[in-house]
Amino acid sequence: MEQAIQSVLLNEHQLAVRVQELGRQISADYKGKNLLLVCILKGSVVFTADLMRALRIPCSLDFMRVSSYGSGVKTSGQVRVPKDLEQDVCAYDVLLVEDILDSGRTLSCLKSLLAERHPKSIRICTLLDKPERREVADLQADYIGFQIPDAFVVGYGLDYDERYRSLPYIGILKPEVYADTRTPD
Ligand code: IMP
Ligand code: MG
Repeated sequence: MEQAIQSVLLNEHQLAVRVQELGRQISADYKGKNLLLVCILKGSVVFTADLMRALRIPCSLDFMRVSSYGSGVKTSGQVRVPKDLEQDVCAYDVLLVEDILDSGRTLSCLKSLLAERHPKSIRICTLLDKPERREVADLQADYIGFQIPDAFVVGYGLDYDERYRSLPYIGILKPEVYADTRTPD
């Protein structure tokens, strides 16, 4: 295991099993619909790649990158969009695919922003949910892989300072590595 990892929270097998379950559920719910997966870069790229292969229905794929204004431990709630979608979402049932739902500010902004473009529907699928850290009370994901405690986690796409994304599991970062500078992306 990486030296910076305190412990493994979710191993490869647990992730694979849960992603298959989510894939089955989403396939049933979106049967006959025009599903557009929106992968929120960069953290959800690994999850999205696995999730789309667990689907049993056709889907389209697009990417969006948002970053929050402000720095430090909190997301400010205002987002910049350094990379926008290429698709016009009007004809689609949009499913936002996110790595982790923390304060909820990023997804709340993003959901409102995309709702203004009038997709047929819009829902959220997040691999991880840290309910203890929620600040936007009315924001809930429609599909959740795992609810996890308030610890800083990395791997399976999630980074700390752009590192550890390639770990095949989700691990808790050692506190001495983590300097309390969470920067959402
Ligand atoms: P929110 O606006 O506070 O919900 O921000 C969510 C974003 O913060 C995620 O998309 C991640 O980029 C980042 N984030 C929050 N918690 C963690 C974590 O434990 N590990 C890695 N990134 C995290
Ligand atoms: Mg990040």
